[in-house]
Amino acid sequence: MYDLQKLRHEFPILSKCVYLDSASTSQTPKCSVDAMCEYFFEYAANHGRGAHHLARKTTEKYEETRTRLGNFLKVSPDHIIFTKNTTDAVNTVANGLTWKRGDEIITTWLEHHSNLLPWMNLKKKGVRVTFVQHENGYLNPQNIQEAICSKTRLVAVTHMPNILGTVQPVGAIGRIAHDAGVPVIVDGAQSVGHFPVDVTYIDYLAIPGHKGLLGPQGTGALYMKDPESLNCSIFGGGMVVSVSHKTVKLLPPPAKFEPGTPNIPGVIGLGPAIDLVSSLGVRNIHAHEKQLGSRMYEGLVKIPGVSVYSPNGTGVVSFNVAGENPNEFSRKLDDYKKICVRSGMHCAEPLASSYHCEGTIRASVGCYTTNDEVDALIESVRYLTGNM
Ligand code: ALA
Repeated sequence: MYDLQKLRHEFPILSKCVYLDSASTSQTPKCSVDAMCEYFFEYAANHGRGAHHLARKTTEKYEETRTRLGNFLKVSPDHIIFTKNTTDAVNTVANGLTWKRGDEIITTWLEHHSNLLPWMNLKKKGVRVTFVQHENGYLNPQNIQEAICSKTRLVAVTHMPNILGTVQPVGAIGRIAHDAGVPVIVDGAQSVGHFPVDVTYIDYLAIPGHKGLLGPQGTGALYMKDPESLNCSIFGGGMVVSVSHKTVKLLPPPAKFEPGTPNIPGVIGLGPAIDLVSSLGVRNIHAHEKQLGSRMYEGLVKIPGVSVYSPNGTGVVSFNVAGENPNEFSRKLDDYKKICVRSGMHCAEPLASSYHCEGTIRASVGCYTTNDEVDALIESVRYLTGNM
């Protein structure tokens, strides 16, 4: 285990509140903010454009992050493109594959909107979307196997649903899909940086920069096993070898997928954040978050009137309090002890609605969360429900 108190010095905001909303976005460490300040104050310029020394330094630092992310995932950096976020990464795949009427996408009941709406949008091209049900929060690979047919062109699956926090068997699902010749996209919004991700059976991995990797908001990435399998869906500056009014010769990946001036400070700030996560060790982070999740589950489940939807041992715990609206109760937690949790449908309305509630209260931990913060939540729920 790493030195938690030392780690927390990287996040000054943590001394001002009880932050239990890391599934939505993580807090950003000083090393990342310092790297962004250094960019702005010392060498800011555009990426991949210009021969002057500032442009060269900017390009070098931006590309360093790609290498760091490649090393982190144990893949070639040329197979990684930077995106705005997970949603952008999933849309790049949805709009980059070639679809024809009658094609089928298999996805699941566990998805949040980022890994749902891009597929539903393809219905207007005549693509069919099939939803596989979960069993108590977990996908059974057998059910995916049974759903795959001759029309299936893609399996799109979450690695960890943002309401339940359950780790899904994406390796087994990927193997089954590959045996049937079907590629797989995994939504890594809640997994990358929280536990090890093996891309052996993953064709596309959508990665947020601002969650488990601790980078700034507005950063994300897409890993592509075969970058040539996707067409570009956005066109503009910085992606070509040559252009005339008759022809366009595109640069090879990753450049052809990154037209326009990107989020340069964000990507440069993501680099040291990835290094920080690597230095803590994702296995250590996972063990720490699991322990915190169990503590939270066991504390909340014993409180009369509290219903917990997540199973024991996940770092994302959704619950409700009888007779309380989730948004109003989360506001009470904030007013009482500055406890920051997310509430509502969590951009995963079909799954949230399946629990026949007005949404949930969701507490989620990060690598920097302490037992004391989890205990503050439990004690506050007890107090606010009259169970002291
Ligand atoms: N998908 C993010 C969440 O779960 C925004 O809160």
